[in-house]
Amino acid sequence: MKILVTGAGGMLGSAVVPALVHAGHKVVATDLRVLADGAAWNGHGPPLTALDVRSPGEVAHEFDRVSPTFVVHLAAETDLEVCEAEPEHAFLTNALGTKHVALACQAADIPLMYVSSAGVFDGTKESAYTELDDPCPINMYAHSKFEGEQYVQMYLRRYYIVRAGWMVGGGRKDHKFVAKILNQLRAGAQVIYAVGDKLGTPTYAPDFAECFARLMETDSFGLYHMACQGQASRYDVARKILEVLGRTDVQLVKVESDFFHDDYPVRRPASEIMRNLMLEVHGMNTMRPWEESLEEYLQIAFADLSVVPELSEQFVGVM
Ligand SMILES: NC(=O)c1ccc[n+]([C@@H]2O[C@H](COP(=O)([O-])OP(=O)(O)OC[C@H]3O[C@@H](n4cnc5c(N)ncnc54)[C@H](OP(=O)(O)O)[C@@H]3O)[C@@H](O)[C@H]2O)c1
Repeated sequence: MKILVTGAGGMLGSAVVPALVHAGHKVVATDLRVLADGAAWNGHGPPLTALDVRSPGEVAHEFDRVSPTFVVHLAAETDLEVCEAEPEHAFLTNALGTKHVALACQAADIPLMYVSSAGVFDGTKESAYTELDDPCPINMYAHSKFEGEQYVQMYLRRYYIVRAGWMVGGGRKDHKFVAKILNQLRAGAQVIYAVGDKLGTPTYAPDFAECFARLMETDSFGLYHMACQGQASRYDVARKILEVLGRTDVQLVKVESDFFHDDYPVRRPASEIMRNLMLEVHGMNTMRPWEESLEEYLQIAFADLSVVPELSEQFVGVM
């Protein structure tokens, strides 16, 4: 297939583009901010070209230029604090940007894959969320992502809406929880605070990319959850990072969300734990336990922070 990828320069794109290329597809990778030589992209494969999904004209022009046979739509404003402070920007990017891409797919009569989020739920369910549960967004990011889902379902018959959990991956592009802990280690922190009252399911980008590359060959369109197996609090993830890196010299302190209120004021669901029910139904749930995937990520990308000798020796370098 000839696949147009939006938002390809981000955390997930840095895994999805190589997986699609590896699967034999021709990939056109686009993103909002691109250096003149396309060098903003940090993976292997095609250079990035510029596409702002907020512009229906740019989207239409890119479809004319590329003539894709499939679109993977990753572009999004993923900063919850920015979305809350600038709701119009969040909706123009995450909801209307998705509408423009979905309408272009409708006009070209091609399928779309849209990545949504476990954050669309309100977090009150005591067990894991499945595709059968009703979304109930509680912040602007989640509202805008859920509206994106609704546009996809409104305009297209052939679509995959794939909800991811807490994203893990991206190497240099990583700007989420794992990177924040690693940045503190790099800065020499001796005490790290992590929240124990927010639960979720980490989602390793390379596992997601491989699982999705297989799913899209099936034409089993619809709504999917695609997170690693298991569940964790932020504290559990931080504890696993320190354990893998052998950092017994660092003290980890469990705190409640209020502790970080000034830095992260946006209300977040208490639980974003997901189960991949539809992948299980199709016999396609290849997502690994989150601990195993996190260990692999740290070994590949961040073993320079380890005091475990075997790990430091295996260090490949930041992805
Ligand atoms: N990160 C998570 O924890 C998480 C969890 C669940 C689902 N998701 C979803 O997964 C998808 C991929 O996210 P990610 O984790 O790879 O986040 P990311 O690293 O923030 O990547 C998103 C990419 O989209 C780009 N972008 C922003 N506005 C755009 C626009 N108007 N036009 C084109 N590109 C634009 C961003 O560029 P800039 O960096 O220059 O803004 C960035 O390169 C998103 O749809 C996100 O909602 C993410």
